Amino acid sequence: MKQEVTTKKVFIRTLGCQMNVRDSEIVRGMLEERGYAFVDAPEHADIVMFNTCSVREHAEHRAISNLASIARKKPRRIFGLIGCVAQHRKEALFKTIPNLDFICGPSDIYDIPKILDKFQDTRNKIQINSKSQFINSETRPLEYVTPYYRESKTHAYVNITYGCDNFCSYCIVPFVRGREVSRPVGDIIREIQECVGRGVCEITLLGQNVNSYVFQARGIGQQATGFVNLLEIINDIEGLKSIGFITSHPKDVGVELFKAMRDLDKVKKELHLPLQSGSNRILKLMNRGYNIEKYKDLVYNYKKILLNARLTTDIIVGFPKETEEDFIETKKALQEIEFDSAYIFKYSPRPPAKSAEMPDDVSLEIKKKRNNELLDLQKRIWRIKL
Ligand code: 5AD
Ligand code: SF4
Repeated sequence: MKQEVTTKKVFIRTLGCQMNVRDSEIVRGMLEERGYAFVDAPEHADIVMFNTCSVREHAEHRAISNLASIARKKPRRIFGLIGCVAQHRKEALFKTIPNLDFICGPSDIYDIPKILDKFQDTRNKIQINSKSQFINSETRPLEYVTPYYRESKTHAYVNITYGCDNFCSYCIVPFVRGREVSRPVGDIIREIQECVGRGVCEITLLGQNVNSYVFQARGIGQQATGFVNLLEIINDIEGLKSIGFITSHPKDVGVELFKAMRDLDKVKKELHLPLQSGSNRILKLMNRGYNIEKYKDLVYNYKKILLNARLTTDIIVGFPKETEEDFIETKKALQEIEFDSAYIFKYSPRPPAKSAEMPDDVSLEIKKKRNNELLDLQKRIWRIKL
């Protein structure tokens, strides 16, 4: 029993997606259970952790330079960099941030209490990064019962899959979060029931591609349970009022899901369906597995079945080889589909993702120009819709 541990104050900054938000909650839950206290500014902390995102180059650089500047000012604290950047940059981070004490990839966050104990004993720098391609399935304890900590009293994020198998050519996620693994149905249900028991009425199911959720339901023979079936089971949980989910992939979404969204009273009538580009040539280079015709067909059915329910998307501008003609196709798609909201990103190469092998040949100026044009267009569409 280490008495001094109970006096340690921890600060975690969370950057990036909802998976990171959930991972930070898990870390906080584990550490609070061991007597650590959490503070809301790095100046008041003994241990400073950044939970980072590496999806876009800019986000990664910002995370590293922010942590480096805090670590320079107060070198006597313990500094940790966790999450996707830790998995991506590995030991090179110790050179970039000389005062960094430990790094830990997203699949290894359950080791953080051990890391802190060990560091406080030895003061040796520690690196924990799953090395396998099957990062999650080998290391992440899928049935681990986490101590309860949630940022909100009424809303909870619940993981249903970890990792991703899609390998969109621009995307680093499969490399930092590993191959896709679905969580056992029973664990998901138990976690939601626990949340509801503590006053949560709204949940958001999390997965890089929730539509590819699949698990052999134990105890009910060898029946395969897909995402729609999972929604049906969750919809029956007593006391739960609202179910949202992110993110969906157009190649795996269909009419069956839209009908379930219509018929299941607790499921939110909104869909985040990343389009990425309106040009078939670019969609192919992105390895997205659908074309614009299939996407528009989905939207047609979605709006018909769910009576113009909310639809949002992600778009990347300036993917390698994107010409003015390709960009015009994306503008046309935005005009035709009339999304309720669109997140626009400027492409950045993320090795070892495949597209990083292609020259990043659209200049930053053109990326910015296309980005602004789409933002303006989306604003106009949004005003018309109101
Ligand atoms: N460059 C720019 N945007 C990217 N995204 C993913 N990878 C990249 C990249 N290399 C965007 C996609 C995705 C969102 C989460 O981030 O649009 O849907
Ligand atoms: Fe990345 Fe594509 Fe997987 Fe989304 S579906 S996480 S964009 S590889």
